[in-house]
Amino acid sequence: MKRLLHIIASPREDESRTLQVAEAFLEAFVETHPEWVIDELDLGKEDLPSMNAKQVGGKYVLLSGKDLYGRLKENWIEIVQHIDRFKTADLYLISTPMWNFSIPYMLKHYIDLIVQPRYLFRYVDKGKAVGLLQDKKMVVAATRGGQYAGGSKDLDFQEPYLRTIFGFIGISDIEFIKAEPMDMGVEIQKQKLEEAKTAAAELARRIDA
Ligand SMILES: Cc1cc2nc3c(=O)[nH]c(=O)nc-3n(C[C@H](O)[C@H](O)[C@H](O)COP(=O)(O)O)c2cc1C
Repeated sequence: MKRLLHIIASPREDESRTLQVAEAFLEAFVETHPEWVIDELDLGKEDLPSMNAKQVGGKYVLLSGKDLYGRLKENWIEIVQHIDRFKTADLYLISTPMWNFSIPYMLKHYIDLIVQPRYLFRYVDKGKAVGLLQDKKMVVAATRGGQYAGGSKDLDFQEPYLRTIFGFIGISDIEFIKAEPMDMGVEIQKQKLEEAKTAAAELARRIDA
């Protein structure tokens, strides 16, 4: 059975505009792909393990080409569970608002946990890295308070960052559904949100997953 992993990075629940866009996608997706399982990972509610002094050493062990061992292996059980949950999904939906021109800290925290050598990427000749995830697609529902298309595109560190980090682990087929501006007047907000919901539902119906 195929599984869509929905990663939620907006803590605003019913108030969230991002989740309205994601819901429009999911509603149409479930209708057109009834055999799929939807796995929801709400990062605001998840007690993610820390990347503290005890854990971070594991990254350097993996970078040196070795497997985790001893106490480190035990400390990494939860991290490896998150990596496995991510790695084994067939399709990803990320729901993320823009925070400070980029992504909310809980999504960055999650990325810092799962993007690990030997699990999601590996080094080949001359320090060149290759992503280990193949043939996976990702959809990002992204809302922003301001307007970035057109004039302020160079302030958008959300889309380029997400394309870079997920491209690094092999996911380059990424479709963004953006709703903006969400905080520059009620009329434009309503209109752009509706447009994004329609685009999300259309994408869900045509996605070749
Ligand atoms: C902590 C925080 C930081 C934000 N930073 C930005 C920003 O840098 N640029 C922007 O356009 N909007 C910013 N916003 C506005 C949100 O991106 C916008 O309201 C979005 O639609 C919120 O999504 P939600 O309704 O799913 O929570 C910020 C909002 C919060 C709470």
